[in-house]
Amino acid sequence: MAKSKQMAVGVDIGGTGVKAALVDVKSGELLSDREKIATPEGGEPDAIRDVVVELIERFDIDDDTPIGVTFPAIVRHGRTMSAANVSKAWIGLEAEQLFEDALGRDIHFVNDADAAGFAEDHYGAAKDASGLVILTTLGTGIGGALIYNGVLIPNVELGHLELDGHDAESRAANSAREREELSWEAWAARLQRYYSHLEFIFSPDLFVVGGGVSKSSEQFLPLLDLKTPIVPAMLRNNAGIIGAAALARGV
Ligand code: BGC
Repeated sequence: MAKSKQMAVGVDIGGTGVKAALVDVKSGELLSDREKIATPEGGEPDAIRDVVVELIERFDIDDDTPIGVTFPAIVRHGRTMSAANVSKAWIGLEAEQLFEDALGRDIHFVNDADAAGFAEDHYGAAKDASGLVILTTLGTGIGGALIYNGVLIPNVELGHLELDGHDAESRAANSAREREELSWEAWAARLQRYYSHLEFIFSPDLFVVGGGVSKSSEQFLPLLDLKTPIVPAMLRNNAGIIGAAALARGV
């Protein structure tokens, strides 16, 4: 059985898959293979709860191993307060309690971008940064995390800034690029508008760009003209898992 004061399980709930791994929270490295189950159609609470339970059962952990779980919505005091790209049944739900009752143990429950941002700040692309770091994940939606000198300011919802009369994520997320079959240049023009606006509002010291598309960052980051350095995320698809585990362990 896995036993270590440095270990925690991270679970990352997303629109297409639910992923989990055992994490060494000292190094931020995965200690197990990444387990994955497709997100059930419709993303209803009970169906996702059952998937999380099934994933956790795959790990041979003791009762004291902390478990962190991410979710793509505003998370306030364990409740999910929004549902931009998931079932509306999550709005106002005592989601942390739902998972805790099913697992029979406490968990740490957190917004997905907050977990990813925390991980990049502690172990990844912003490890050596000081001041204000903004992580954005460009995926189905846009997730945002604000970290000031290592302290996470939760639930900033930077994907829902209104830009030119539109919800920013509806124009600048990677899903918009795919849906509208935009060229890298056309998408970069939208990203330019988005990041210039963020830069004007927050005066950050560093932008970190995550989400699956960050593996193609050389196609679009060099096209942006910003005063703030902008770098791809390093932990890629594992950032949510690692951040959830680290936050659950209280790193
Ligand atoms: C949600 C955020 C989430 C982001 C990335 C947005 O639509 O409102 O809470 O972090 O998508 O999944």
